[in-house]
Amino acid sequence: MPATPAAPAAAETTAPAAQPAPSPAPAAAVDDALGGRLFDRWYTGKDFTPDSAKTPDAIDGRGGPFGNGSLPRADGAPWSNASGHDYRLKNLFGWDLRGSEGIAGPKYQNKKQVLAKNLLAGKESFDELLAWFDKGSTDSPGLGKVLSQDELRSLTSFVIGVRDGKLPHPDQVWTLSTTSPGRYTLNAGGDATRGARLIGERCARCHGADGTAMLFDDDEFSLGTHTRQKAYEDWAKILNGQPGTKMGRQVKSTTGKEMAQEILDIFAALCDRKAFPKGAAKAADVPDKDVRCGAYLR
Ligand code: HEC
Repeated sequence: MPATPAAPAAAETTAPAAQPAPSPAPAAAVDDALGGRLFDRWYTGKDFTPDSAKTPDAIDGRGGPFGNGSLPRADGAPWSNASGHDYRLKNLFGWDLRGSEGIAGPKYQNKKQVLAKNLLAGKESFDELLAWFDKGSTDSPGLGKVLSQDELRSLTSFVIGVRDGKLPHPDQVWTLSTTSPGRYTLNAGGDATRGARLIGERCARCHGADGTAMLFDDDEFSLGTHTRQKAYEDWAKILNGQPGTKMGRQVKSTTGKEMAQEILDIFAALCDRKAFPKGAAKAADVPDKDVRCGAYLR
């Protein structure tokens, strides 16, 4: 039977309360925290094992568009992992997104796999940068065959957010240094008292009240010793979360500047070696006067 059109009079008198409750809105398709985790390690949870850097003559990974753990460049050719980037954007551009001008570059940590492009100095529109990540370039991988449109948009949104101020900029948290161990120092202006409160509220249930409940990098570091030595990395972990774990974004403010302040406050607190000790971690803590924590070091 053909459907009978609903009688307009009846429809108009139906009370809104009689309608079923709307289903919950779907999770936002574009999520810049997810984008940051994809920047960190986009293949966590995907069937992709990167080509091994230890066998430079063979492309011998698993998954991806070629089935061998590689990605194409813009010309479509598979791009090997000989330089050891492992196809992670944080390796190609550094934890500060600045490529060879930033912390991974020759003036600082001097990582051989870093690319020239400074993502924070670009002027691309959202769509232009999205297309660049999608297709790749002469020396960077195209992610369009391994990420969904929503994932690509989330990644682009993360990079543009850091670049244009919606998210914290690394310069608001730490400063590059050619002489400091780790090649950075924390900025002044952190409030360790507030930071300790935020850690108690947000981190302690997983990391323990003193940050030793979970050790990182094959038990090398506690939360405190990691941040005292690698805050250039941890700012991104706190902002975006840790790929593949229940740790999501840990900042709650709505502006980049306020989020940066939350991160700096947390770092100032984590520079207290008594409150956040090394516990059973294998690597040594920082010595007195270590300049990374600077005046925050206790
Ligand atoms: C829901 C649990 C959870 C919460 C809440 C949480 N984390 Fe995590 N965090 C984890 C897990 C799990 C890891 C991964 C540990 C690993 O890689 O071995 C992690 C990793 C990290 C790392 C990365 C270490 C590395 O070597 O890569 C940092 C830094 C960190 N957390 C800091 C924090 C801070 C600071 C807070 C609070 C503001 C916080 N986390 C809140 C579960 C949590």
